[in-house]
Amino acid sequence: MSDKLVIKQPEEFAFDAESEKQIEKILSKYPPKRKASAVIPLLYVVQDQMNRQTKSAWVPKVAMQVVAERLEIAPIRVYEIASFYTMFNLKPIGQYHLQVCTTTPCWLRGSDNVVAACMKATGIEKIGQTSNDGLFTLSEVECLGACANAPILQVDHDYYEDMNAASTEALIEALRRGERPKPGSQIGRLNSAPIDHQVSSNKPEAKSSSEGANNVK
Ligand code: FES
Repeated sequence: MSDKLVIKQPEEFAFDAESEKQIEKILSKYPPKRKASAVIPLLYVVQDQMNRQTKSAWVPKVAMQVVAERLEIAPIRVYEIASFYTMFNLKPIGQYHLQVCTTTPCWLRGSDNVVAACMKATGIEKIGQTSNDGLFTLSEVECLGACANAPILQVDHDYYEDMNAASTEALIEALRRGERPKPGSQIGRLNSAPIDHQVSSNKPEAKSSSEGANNVK
């Protein structure tokens, strides 16, 4: 078992009404004999409930046992999944989870600047740490599947795209004020369309996308 589990653990966990509603919907997607396949969605339900109740999105050990009971599987099958996937936090984290993608496309588009801006704005000195005020935890993650709008900073479940140092610092300050800026491209890109808004190869509306990309500061 991961040593990440050696922390102060709550003694009890029970799904609340909101989680029960989500679980009912999730389990309806699986044949009853295959409900073990719902282990990852249920771990997300646990994490989200912990966030609602404690402002820290993590999965306590006792909650893994509750998931195992609900899915009628051995607890070890839940532990091994929760400790394998990096999106599950096995210890308490800050109220906002800053996850910077540093895989090659994001790195080429400036993820180092995003990491540095996160540290500057939160006072965090090392990836994996939580800020002294308990508001932010900074993690480095692998490709988030949104490379077209690199670099990506994921905050909890939201993707903030086309980030740079200034937009990262502004985002963190807004979160600190209790605001939740609109996720998505932070430079006005439409979904993952080219930066210059060209949407057809027949009738170019502006410069080529590569020229447009070079113009991004
Ligand atoms: S490399 Fe960062 S989203 Fe794919």
